[in-house]
Amino acid sequence: MSSVSSVNYSEKIPNNVNLANDRTLQRALEHWQPHFLQWWRDLGPTDFQSADVYLRTAVSVDAQGWAQYGAVKMPDYRWGIFLADAVPDRKIGFGDRMGEPVWEQVPGEYRSTLRRLIVTQGDTEPASVEQQRLLGHTCPSLYDLRNLFQVNVEEGRHLWAMVYLLHAYFGRDGREEAEELLARHSGDADKPRILTTFNEPISDWLSFFCFTYFTDRDGKYQLKSLAESAFDPLSRTCRFMLTEEAHHMFVGETGIGRVVKRTLEVMKELNTDDPAKIRAVGAVDLPTLQKYLNFWCSSSLDLFGSEISSNSAANFANGLKGRPDEDQYQDHVLRSAVFHMENPGGKFEDVPMLNALNEVMRESYLKDCEIGLKRWNRTIERAGHAFRFTLPSPHFRRSIGVWAGLPVTPEGKLISKEEYDERRNEWIPSEADRAFVRSLMQRVVEPGKIAAWIAPPERGINNLPVEYEYVKLH
Ligand SMILES: [Fe+2]
Ligand SMILES: [Fe+2]
Repeated sequence: MSSVSSVNYSEKIPNNVNLANDRTLQRALEHWQPHFLQWWRDLGPTDFQSADVYLRTAVSVDAQGWAQYGAVKMPDYRWGIFLADAVPDRKIGFGDRMGEPVWEQVPGEYRSTLRRLIVTQGDTEPASVEQQRLLGHTCPSLYDLRNLFQVNVEEGRHLWAMVYLLHAYFGRDGREEAEELLARHSGDADKPRILTTFNEPISDWLSFFCFTYFTDRDGKYQLKSLAESAFDPLSRTCRFMLTEEAHHMFVGETGIGRVVKRTLEVMKELNTDDPAKIRAVGAVDLPTLQKYLNFWCSSSLDLFGSEISSNSAANFANGLKGRPDEDQYQDHVLRSAVFHMENPGGKFEDVPMLNALNEVMRESYLKDCEIGLKRWNRTIERAGHAFRFTLPSPHFRRSIGVWAGLPVTPEGKLISKEEYDERRNEWIPSEADRAFVRSLMQRVVEPGKIAAWIAPPERGINNLPVEYEYVKLH
């Protein structure tokens, strides 16, 4: 391990950025720290602040063994600033300035754009904590409760990651933005979070698993594209965030997988696929689960922005934001490339590739989303059922871009507004579906016990048994 990657825990703010060498920055962040903690107490998980939670904490940025595990009360979690090690002689990997050395400071001409990108990413992190703050009351097991809190504290750390950049590189504007990140609140009528998906309430665990599957995966794609940035501190920050993010998607994928597993057990016991009978014994029928997938997938697709975007073109050309895994492509400049894009008239048009990058990202995101569906579908197939999950068309239920507001079915068919309104409840959870799912959300907190609507996990955390007391309530 290089000395750069070790984290200094003796300081008020754990970090691997030599914070002690920059007194002004250190003081500014130490001034923000109590505001963050106050926000955590006010809008973080309710009622569990004194519980001992078995959490992982970053101790280095090494790929191997970067975290340590132990019981922590959440307000005592060591939120800090961790950047992946610098790549020596790193060069800009895409856009018009490809091949030039990366930037250690923000170029003046990109200052406001970069600040906006960082603020928008930063805003999602505390937003999701706020969205999930009531879920602890209805946890299906202590194992799940612990995973929820792990996700929550890491989203808090991701806020720290962005606030560090704002404080360190954007002067007074950056400090003001850092305060604003604590002033906007998810779902707040006057000061909502920036992006719509992050104002949707997450009031049940099915939504939580869908959110971590679909919306945290959007986070993964945003972070991957920012990890390509020519602004090297942003790249290094995002690269380390991605190691934490992987766990959030694991929670989503295994969570949904366990719901499917439990439903299949019930279908076998009752020898039926009748949703009413499955619901009657307190499990989630597969068509209802499909509706939740439709809801959260379509909501998350909007996060990639308009199909045609001059902002994304400029961000790419200027080296601010690349494509996820830029290495996998041949052409990194894209000045002469075109994208064959379908528009709502059913026609295709050729769009300059630079202007279609949101769509490029959306497509690779959807491919990544398919992986879990294939896995769940295999278990359904093995159990001998014909039902299969599908992802909704990227044109379904969009509220941003050329498909916004158009009545499109999950299969991608444009229909009349009347038919759409009539059939909507077949595709996304109705009020009755939501009420049913909420009725299942009963709190289970005995070690090793699990709610009836979800199967136990295959293994515990960090080689501990499933029945380990992951959260000690007081
Ligand atoms: Fe995050
Ligand atoms: Fe996340």
